[in-house]
Amino acid sequence: MVATVLQEGRIGTLVLKNRIVRAATSETMASAEGLVSDRLVAFYEDLARGGAGLIITGHIYVDRRGQYTPFQTGIHDDACIAGLRRLVDAVHAQGGTIFAELAHAGSQGTVPGVTPVAPSVVANAIFGTEPDELTADDIEQLVMAFRQGARRAIAAGFDGIHLHGGNGYLISQFRSPLTNLRNDAWGGSAENRNRFFIRVYEAVRDEVGDDVPVTARIGMADVDPAGLPVEESVALVRELERRGLDAVEVTYNVMNTYRDNIRPYVGVRFGRALRHLAFGAVGRPYVEEAYYRPFAQAVKAGGASLPVILVGGVRSTAMMDELIGSGDTDFVAMARPFIREPDIARQIVEGRVGPVDCVSCNLCLMHEGRQSLRCWRRTWPDLLRHVRLHYGPGRG
Ligand SMILES: Cc1cc2nc3c(=O)[nH]c(=O)nc-3n(C[C@H](O)[C@H](O)[C@H](O)COP(=O)(O)O)c2cc1C
Repeated sequence: MVATVLQEGRIGTLVLKNRIVRAATSETMASAEGLVSDRLVAFYEDLARGGAGLIITGHIYVDRRGQYTPFQTGIHDDACIAGLRRLVDAVHAQGGTIFAELAHAGSQGTVPGVTPVAPSVVANAIFGTEPDELTADDIEQLVMAFRQGARRAIAAGFDGIHLHGGNGYLISQFRSPLTNLRNDAWGGSAENRNRFFIRVYEAVRDEVGDDVPVTARIGMADVDPAGLPVEESVALVRELERRGLDAVEVTYNVMNTYRDNIRPYVGVRFGRALRHLAFGAVGRPYVEEAYYRPFAQAVKAGGASLPVILVGGVRSTAMMDELIGSGDTDFVAMARPFIREPDIARQIVEGRVGPVDCVSCNLCLMHEGRQSLRCWRRTWPDLLRHVRLHYGPGRG
């Protein structure tokens, strides 16, 4: 019984056909210049056919030095608009609704030959990269880069803008006291550390007007307990709501590894691990579904009334029902399950119940930035290719 997720949902001015969101998942399918390829258009057309109430694109970089990996989609130049328009048109033709996730990787950028930028010279916790420190002028230019990115997204026909304010990327680096050591107007107090996010939001809102939904993925707390506390983020969500933010998707802020956010083998018990040959799950402690539920509850308990999108280990129709039925969230979002089953939303709408097929083995993540996004355990040739690429000679 999944009546709750089948209800229409509202985000700002938009009515969505159900409460299932395809969470942002980077595709590694653009050209070296960040332009949309035919393959990327086909990929999103397929997702749109799959029936999600809302599709959020993989993160799209607003500035060249904010690129995360090679072959990531860009929105840093007007030359990107035509390809993005083709992608959006393909989604709309299938009855889909799509938001562009605008992002800057900050010190988390991994493009060879590019020294990334960040609020302060703090080595990135995941990759160890030492960034260049942004000047006050650079920061103003980056606020403009997000604004220009929003302008291009609207020119391409996107239905809304989703700001990437989590998972250790630039906006989260400004917000965390561990990565922002500045003593000017952009660092120090919570108000100063939040300034970049608020300025970016205001610039985007000003650009797109009140009728276009603007939502955000927000890092609610750093993984390191000495870092950003959840209370500060709950207050920020309220502040952004006051300024017109249309929905919040909760996640971690600065992390030590991607597995903090993209947790392996969620909801997989022994029997299922064996049936799916997910041997990595055997002998590990059980990973609970919906691991960001406490963040969603904190937002609701903190008095915000904007819609909440809950991502992170949502893996069964019973849990989807429970999450929405309890009022802890308004939408459920999934990333990895849509890689395995692009039509998972349609299946649920048509009566599918139980767990999704994805076992969160994270092979998809291992190839990010090198091979195009796919579920590597769907066919034997892909699985063997994964083994060759990942463990064979010349890997990387
Ligand atoms: C291969 C891969 C790429 C991802 N790319 C993005 C991205 O571009 N933007 C983003 O906000 N999150 C990204 N994520 C994180 C997911 O949106 C999501 O937060 C995480 O996978 C947990 O949700 P899940 O358990 O439903 O997969 C990515 C995850 C994976 C596995």
